[in-house]
Formats: sequence, structure tokens, C-alpha cells
Amino acid sequence: MRRPLVVGNWKLNGSLAVNEARMQAIVGAEKDIHQIDIGLCLPYVYLFQAQQLLANTNIMWGSQNVSQFEQGAYTACVSADMVAEFGCQLAIVGHSERRHYSAENSAKAVIRIKRAVDAGITPIYCIGETQAEHAAGEAKKVLAAQLMALLDLDKISLEKIKSFGLVMAYEPVWAIGADQAATPELAQSMHAFIRDLLSKFDAEFAQKTRIIYGGSVTPENAKALFNMPDIDGGLVGRASLDAHAFSSICAAALNYQAPSN
Ligand code: 13P
Repeated sequence: MRRPLVVGNWKLNGSLAVNEARMQAIVGAEKDIHQIDIGLCLPYVYLFQAQQLLANTNIMWGSQNVSQFEQGAYTACVSADMVAEFGCQLAIVGHSERRHYSAENSAKAVIRIKRAVDAGITPIYCIGETQAEHAAGEAKKVLAAQLMALLDLDKISLEKIKSFGLVMAYEPVWAIGADQAATPELAQSMHAFIRDLLSKFDAEFAQKTRIIYGGSVTPENAKALFNMPDIDGGLVGRASLDAHAFSSICAAALNYQAPSN
């Protein structure tokens, strides 16, 4: 049975004052919720604040990336070990905005996944096709290439990732920051495809790995998405900036019925 997971990705938003109010509102709304996992991924500079405000609550916190480097002359990079010191349990890796604006690719993303796992942090590996790839019918090919990049890691690292665990996020680029999410049926078919790809690593790994959906999740569409058998929760951008909307999305995950095989 996979436990639903809803993660807010705050992206480049917030201030000390705004974050404090928002985190307090989310903690207040979610304090009695123990059936699902909830996380917030903040800009690096606010991780200390998250640690102060979210410790001893049922809300996890995490970073929006980690470096593929461990230490050294890499100006502006932040390592997985560093964010682990601030209590991060999650780190987003391979987000399409990083791929688009900062030329990150799957080869770098899989090293970041390894760094996160080595630091005891669960990576949330984002994969998804662009509008052009979607229109060309190449979505599955793109997803396969992004996910199978994990095979470029050495065997020991791959085994470690499989036993520690990771979260997959299907984020179709055309649905991010858009007017509409992917339909539940389309998202489900892509999630099932991703799970099938994961089974090429190991059947048990495929069954236990949570695959969450991201791209214009709202309180209105969350339930239909989360009710799909292979959609194990959401990675939420804009709606996570509103504590009330985010809490409604978490509530939609509460009623989720995952298959028990
Ligand atoms: P939106 O929910 O704003 O579309 O963003 C999705 C996203 O990119 C989450 O990582």
C-alpha cells in the first residue's frame, strides 16, 4: 500500500514573513492528518526557517534541488549534505524549470538523486515531456529516456537508491503553470507507463515507488487525479502558495484508495 504524498513546490516565492504565516496556517490545518505524507519544498535560504517552524509537526520540508557536486570550487551550489543539516527529508531533482532555465539534464539529475540518497534525503525525480514532444507523440519516449538515465549510475548506487527509495513526479511541461492539468485518464496512463518502466529495475521497487502528478493541480481537480490507481499524490506549484488551497488538495489525497498489491 503506497502512502499518498502531497508536496508543495514554492519555487521562487516567499519572504520570512509570508512563509511564517503560510507555514503556520498549513500546520494548523494539517495537524490531525496522519494518513498521508505532506511536504513543502522551499528556496534554500528558507530551510532554516522551515526547520524552526515545522520540526515536531507532521509536515516534512525539503529543497528544490541539490548539487551534483559534493564540495569544492562550485560557486552558488548547495550540496545534499548541507540541506540535510537543516533537516530536509525531501529534495526535488530534475524539475523542468531547472532543465529549461539552467540547462540541467537527466545525466546531472541522476547524480543529484545519488547525492540526495547518500545524504539520507528522498529525491523527488521530475520527468515530463514538453508541449512539442507531446504534440509529436513522443511523450513516452521522453519519459523513458529521462527515467532510464538512472542506469548510467554505477550498480552500487542504483541498488542503494532502490532500497532507500525515491519519489517519481510526472510533470508534463505543458501543464505546468497552465490553465489546465492533464486529464486524470491521460495522467494515469503516463503514471502506469512510468511504473512499468520502474518494474524493469525491480517489480517490488515499482510497486512501492510513489508516482505523484504535477502540473496545475488545484482543489477542484485534485480528487479526480488522486483517485487514479497509479497517481499517488501531487507536486503542487501555485496552489501550494495558498494555505487553504493546499490543505484542500491534501484533503483530496486523504480519500485516495491505493491498490494493495
Ligand atoms: P503549478 O502547480 O503551478 O502548475 O506548478 C507545478 C510544478 O511545477 C510543481 O513542481
